[in-house]
Amino acid sequence: MTATLIDEATRILSLNDLGNYTVPTHGLYPFQWNWDSCLTALGQGHLDEARAWREIETLFEHQWDDGMVPHIVFHKQDEGYFPGPDVWSTGRVVPTSGITQPPVAGFAVARLFQRARDRALAEQKARALLPKVHAWHEWFFRCRDPKGTGLVAVIHPWETGRDNSVDWDEAFERVPTEGVMPFTRRDTQHANPEHRPTQAQYERYIWLVQRFRDLGWDNSRLHDASPFQLVDPGFNGILLRACADLATLAEALGEPAIATAAGARADHGAIALESLWSDARGQYLCLDRVTGQLVDSPSVAGILAAFAPIPRARAAALAQRVRALANGTRFLVPSHDQQDHRFDARRYWRGPVWLIVNYMIADGLAAQGEGEVAAQITRSSLELIHDSGFAEYYDPLDGTPCGGASFTWTAAMVIEFLKAA
Ligand code: DGY
Repeated sequence: MTATLIDEATRILSLNDLGNYTVPTHGLYPFQWNWDSCLTALGQGHLDEARAWREIETLFEHQWDDGMVPHIVFHKQDEGYFPGPDVWSTGRVVPTSGITQPPVAGFAVARLFQRARDRALAEQKARALLPKVHAWHEWFFRCRDPKGTGLVAVIHPWETGRDNSVDWDEAFERVPTEGVMPFTRRDTQHANPEHRPTQAQYERYIWLVQRFRDLGWDNSRLHDASPFQLVDPGFNGILLRACADLATLAEALGEPAIATAAGARADHGAIALESLWSDARGQYLCLDRVTGQLVDSPSVAGILAAFAPIPRARAAALAQRVRALANGTRFLVPSHDQQDHRFDARRYWRGPVWLIVNYMIADGLAAQGEGEVAAQITRSSLELIHDSGFAEYYDPLDGTPCGGASFTWTAAMVIEFLKAA
């Protein structure tokens, strides 16, 4: 089974490889996506290290002057995607979107470096990427944590990657739709509309884009001007893990200033993350920064925080949450608790399983001494792929493949699960 899965995953990586970057899947996502690329590089690294470094390098060639790394790079024209470059209007030579995505790059660069077979190449590439990744992290703390709490807010659901999570439902009530341009969605032409966000959600996504565009994509203003400011424990967990890993990498490369600064961010954030813990739910929750309230929504974001260096007792509690979720679904880890009435098994981030999330949760739990649950997640992930192929995401109850097919990061994670073991 292992050889067949690796062969198929390798075929998908090559199918979606456009030379210097990889599309998540043809049709539905025809450009370069930020966290897709960084996680894809991990899988590529087992096959061709130079190609893996190139994937991340290409992304960082489009970093903004203020340090932000955009969530989409529109390398070429493609009318099959909405919203395209004309909607974003960020004014860049190679167009990009104007928002960002989970900062997995720091983790990916550190991991590629740590297990590199070609040490000279790794040292050269990691040394060049180090200050760029650090600048991105500093951008987050400057522009998305203006009060210095230690945790950053996202200002658009697309930044989290978890576009239509239940976590955003309440906050979306205050995102208006007046003045939204008429538009035609393309995603529903490539994927089953029942598996995608709703039209009402899309109108709010576009309202936010128009709001930020009207502010000239000036990141010194966007956070405070957004009616949507959510502190997501999974997103912050990724950022804190990336800061911690970058500190270790900087140390290894003899860059003490970056090592100290990145380490301090990770330490401060780890303390701040505790403010998102819910005893009642046994996991972390999102904080709505506009209302100052925790959002009572048991989504996978609060478990994904396990990717960060969290206290052992928290990791043990999160492992317990995963065990409890396993009692209600056939496959781990559902993106929303199936016992919550808002759970929707096939609707994008309101229930389905995503392999990249599984990978990060398993990695974090294993590092915190919860190897048994980590192994359970890995086994479940591979069983899912074996039964249902390389989809974008899956129904956790019966494994039905959902969204796009021949999906790059799913393939990359399979290679990672099987070869990194
Ligand atoms: C999409 O188009 O579905 C993305 O999630 C936005 O990046």
